[in-house]
Amino acid sequence: MEVIIQPNKEAAASLVARIIANDLRANPQLVLGLATGKTMERVYRQLVRMHHEEKLDFSRCATFNLDEYVGLSPNRPNSYRHYMDCHLFSQVNIERRNTHLPDGLAADLSAECQRYEALIQKAGGIDLQLLGIGKAGHIGFNEPLSALRSRTRVKALTPTTIKQNAPMFGGEDKVPRRAITMGVGTIIEARRCILLATGDSKAEVIAQAVEGPITSMISASALQLHARCTVIVDEEAGAKLKEQEYYRWIFDNEPEWESYR
Ligand code: GLP
Repeated sequence: MEVIIQPNKEAAASLVARIIANDLRANPQLVLGLATGKTMERVYRQLVRMHHEEKLDFSRCATFNLDEYVGLSPNRPNSYRHYMDCHLFSQVNIERRNTHLPDGLAADLSAECQRYEALIQKAGGIDLQLLGIGKAGHIGFNEPLSALRSRTRVKALTPTTIKQNAPMFGGEDKVPRRAITMGVGTIIEARRCILLATGDSKAEVIAQAVEGPITSMISASALQLHARCTVIVDEEAGAKLKEQEYYRWIFDNEPEWESYR
């Protein structure tokens, strides 16, 4: 795992967008794993800008989102399909048929989870998986005690997650209780993972996920098992990391990061 600390939210999001753009330019048929949440909005804004100003081309890539609420129709404002349409898909030249999210309205939810897994396999697996982190330490909706080898399935949301997402829904009672999410095992099969976290509300959970023990109580800690995972934080989200000096030295000196400095 590598950790990169950037001065602020915008710089952190811009670095993530530049990594995605470079990978996409190197492989126009990239299979991208996407995430939702407030943190990602800045990343998508940058990608849209690059599409317009630098001709970043999405026409041949495919995307798979991490998760979707159960029971929300795709055109409801809080569905993740709506989020993705709004922040990215409708603003770049991606083919809609190449954009995938689990169907939270499927009559048979477990068949839908299997279909989603099969679709990822058929696409050749995920090349680059973008991740945020919830306050409960989750990636996707892999709430505490999610098995580290779990696959795409339905998960019940914890009270912490429901509280965190309540403002978007106008109250805790309006937040769906369940979601379909890629499993921790599905996520760590991606060839490369990038986790972005910003703001002081994420400082504690980032320190636990990055420098704490691997535990299903903090599903993001499973990323320590991944051979190619980069965690990008702003100063606030990185504030509780013990080895900050070491992480900064690596970013400032290692040739791999030269073009991003
Ligand atoms: C939800 C999503 C996660 C995301 C998290 C953080 O729980 N399912 O994938 O990482 O929100 O969201 P935010 O960026 O708004 O803090």
